[in-house]
Formats: sequence, structure tokens, C-alpha cells
Amino acid sequence: MGSDFAGKRVAVLGAGKMGGILLKALLEKGLLSPQATVATVQHEERARALGQRLNVPVGTDNAAAVRGADIIFVCVKPQVVQEVIEQIRPNISNKQLIISVAASVPTSQIEKALGREVPVVRAMPNTPCVLGCGMTGICKGKFADTSHLETACALFSVVGKTVVVDEKHMDAVTGLSASGPAYIYIILESLAEAGVKLGLPRDIATLLAAQTTLGAATVVLETGDHPACSTAGERAGERVRAIVRVSRWSLGFARARTPVLH
Ligand SMILES: NC(=O)c1ccc[n+]([C@@H]2O[C@H](COP(=O)([O-])OP(=O)(O)OC[C@H]3O[C@@H](n4cnc5c(N)ncnc54)[C@H](OP(=O)(O)O)[C@@H]3O)[C@@H](O)[C@H]2O)c1
Repeated sequence: MGSDFAGKRVAVLGAGKMGGILLKALLEKGLLSPQATVATVQHEERARALGQRLNVPVGTDNAAAVRGADIIFVCVKPQVVQEVIEQIRPNISNKQLIISVAASVPTSQIEKALGREVPVVRAMPNTPCVLGCGMTGICKGKFADTSHLETACALFSVVGKTVVVDEKHMDAVTGLSASGPAYIYIILESLAEAGVKLGLPRDIATLLAAQTTLGAATVVLETGDHPACSTAGERAGERVRAIVRVSRWSLGFARARTPVLH
């Protein structure tokens, strides 16, 4: 299938938070054309509002939406996937590609529910995709090949970085990068709180914490070094003492809070 999307018809089933992020980004970047894109949601009034906002047909009939589509995104909640696959099953052929973002739903479950040899790709994006700086882990099912992976990578690279993994690693990807922003927000908030306790205005403490987090991540990405290497250097001892001091504030604060995971 590859990464040439000219003339390709796409259906996004479940254009909620994640489906909506993908739909909006793919339309804005011109990978999909509004004439060749359809979406579904559960509620009629949301369908109307979303359709007007994105200028694409949005309905509530999944079976109709996938008719003639080349690529079908399944973006409903995991517990709804089985029901949606059963609805679309009569209109699916092995010429179509199904891309599911549902957490912890294996490709084998979707393949079995479809009852034929349809290419299925599973993807696990995260919420920073909304600003184009997301991370998506991608794997293929039994009937998908490298061209289907290439298609999925090209689509998700519009909202950030992508990595292809074996399906056995997808739960780890979910725990690390899909849930990861929640951990980082806790660390970031804890660092900022430590700054406030040391007398900094909150907006400055938050800016320092956020840009420092971004900078440290960028160093790791750009150098490819193990994160520990980045703490070494001529002033390492001083930095370690600073880390210990800040940790007393920030990690103590983090421990006192209940993490909010999604
Ligand atoms: N959010 C994340 O950070 C994230 C990250 C990675 C993967 N995911 C995966 O993305 C999927 C969606 O999560 P979300 O956070 O985007 O949830 P969400 O905002 O609740 O979106 C779910 C969407 O599915 C629609 N829907 C429900 N039943 C449907 C049906 N039978 N047919 C068609 N559409 C239906 C809902 O319609 P209404 O709008 O009308 O209610 C809603 O738009 C989940 O499987 C999740 O595991 C999410």
C-alpha cells in the first residue's frame, strides 16, 4: 500500500479525542482530502458538530463509512472494538487496511472478528500528537506486510515520531509512551513546585521545569546517548548535589500525590 495517499479513501471510526487528533492533523497536512475522508462517532449531535468543524462527512453508521475505504482507522474505546468490527465485517475485504489504536486489543482479536485475511496494523499514539510531537509505537498483524507498516508510519509521522515493534512489545509501549506523558507531568509539576518552595514565581518555575524537561529530552534524542551520560561532565558532582536537594522537595511532593493515568 505504501505512503502515496493520493486518491486514497479513509474512514475514521470513533473520531473522539485520539481519532479527532489524527483526523484533524491528516486533513490539515493535506495527506487526506476532505472529499475522500469520512468519520463516525456514537452520538448524532456530535457527528453534526464535528462534520461542520472539519468539513468532512461524519455519521454514526460504521458499516456505511467503511464501504469503499482503503484505510480504516478504528479509534473507539477498547471495549467497543469487537462490536464495531462485527458491524463493518460484511463490508471489509483484504484490499483494505485496518489500523487500530485501541489499547490492549491484539491484532488477532480483530482478525478473528473479521473472519478473513485482512491486513491489520495496531498503533499506540500518545496525547502530545495533538501538537505534532507525539510518539507512536506500531506493529503488524498476521496478514499485514511491510507496505502496510510503511503506510501506518507515514500517517502517524504527521503527528510525531513513530517506531515499529513486535506486537509482543505493544503493552510495554502503552505503559511507557502512551501513559508516559502523565508521569512526566507529575515530575514536571514536582520540579516546578520545588522551585516555588524555593521562592520562584509559579509561572517562572513552570517555564524552567518545562523547558528543562524538553531540553533534556532533546539532548537524549539528538545525541542518542544513554540519559545517564548527559549528567556526566566537569560539574557532575555539583549537579548531583543539586539533584539530591531538589529531589527532597519534588519527589516528596510527588509521593504525596495520587498519579492520574489515562
Ligand atoms: N486518548 C489517548 O491518549 C489515547 C492514546 C492511545 C490510544 N488511545 C486509544 O484510542 C481509543 C479512543 O480513545 P479516546 O481517548 O480517543 O476516547 P474518546 O475520546 O471517548 O473517543 C471515542 C470515540 O468513539 C466514539 N464511539 C463510541 N462508540 C462508537 C460506535 N459504536 N461507533 C462509532 N463511534 C463510537 C465516541 O463517540 P461520541 O463522541 O459520540 O461519544 C467517541 O467519539 C481507545 O481505544 C484508546 O485505547 C487513546
